[in-house]
Amino acid sequence: MRRVKTATQCVHLEGRGDPYGAVSPPIYQTATFRQSSPSEFGDFDYTRSGNPTRKLVEQQLAKLEGGKHASAFASGMAALTALTRTLEIGDHIIAGNDLYGGTIRFLEKVVQRAGVYVSYVDPTDSNEVGAALSKRTKLLLIETPTNPLLRIIDIKAIAECAHCLGARLAVDNSMLSPCFQQPLALGADVVMRTPLRGFCRCTRQSSAFTILAYVTTLDTNFIETRQMAMAQ
Ligand SMILES: Cc1ncc(COP(=O)(O)O)c(C=O)c1O
Repeated sequence: MRRVKTATQCVHLEGRGDPYGAVSPPIYQTATFRQSSPSEFGDFDYTRSGNPTRKLVEQQLAKLEGGKHASAFASGMAALTALTRTLEIGDHIIAGNDLYGGTIRFLEKVVQRAGVYVSYVDPTDSNEVGAALSKRTKLLLIETPTNPLLRIIDIKAIAECAHCLGARLAVDNSMLSPCFQQPLALGADVVMRTPLRGFCRCTRQSSAFTILAYVTTLDTNFIETRQMAMAQ
């Protein structure tokens, strides 16, 4: 099958978008959707749990990443919060030792206080990663390229390490865009991006965008767990 170029993917919508054939997808600003009866639910009921505009964006992002599912959030920290909410008390995260400062503060001040143990390794050293893994390790969280040092991590090698003990590899690939790297194709289980850096090539100061971040995955079980956590 011919591979569709990224630029073409960006302008072709999944599922034709709008029931009335609008070429530019309409923005659904409603909070609540009418249901046919109190016990029969349509595709959408309340915008926090699902909205046609957001669904379309998520489908497009999943396609760009080579994923099956995507969940959009208002910020990178919100995406990271949802990602770590899939863990339980007593679980262990191995994180890279060069991460965005906000991520480190979040792991230290929020995640650890919620009973999830976090340790840090040099993700370029597979011996160190292997030694830190235990049966309690559920998630390896790395950035590549890292922020701030722009170190490049071998996603394939670290994914193999994670999978040998059944842990998932989550890659924060915010410093690039899916046009340049697609971590799912290299073995990552989840990709997270806050697009203010590599994607939009803009800085916080100059951005006129509504901030949008997302996680993508090929793993249906994972996304269902996250949605459960968010719905509660
Ligand atoms: C690599 C990386 N991850 C996560 C974040 C957090 O994203 P946000 O500021 O959208 O919450 C940032 C922010 O700069 C970042 O650079």
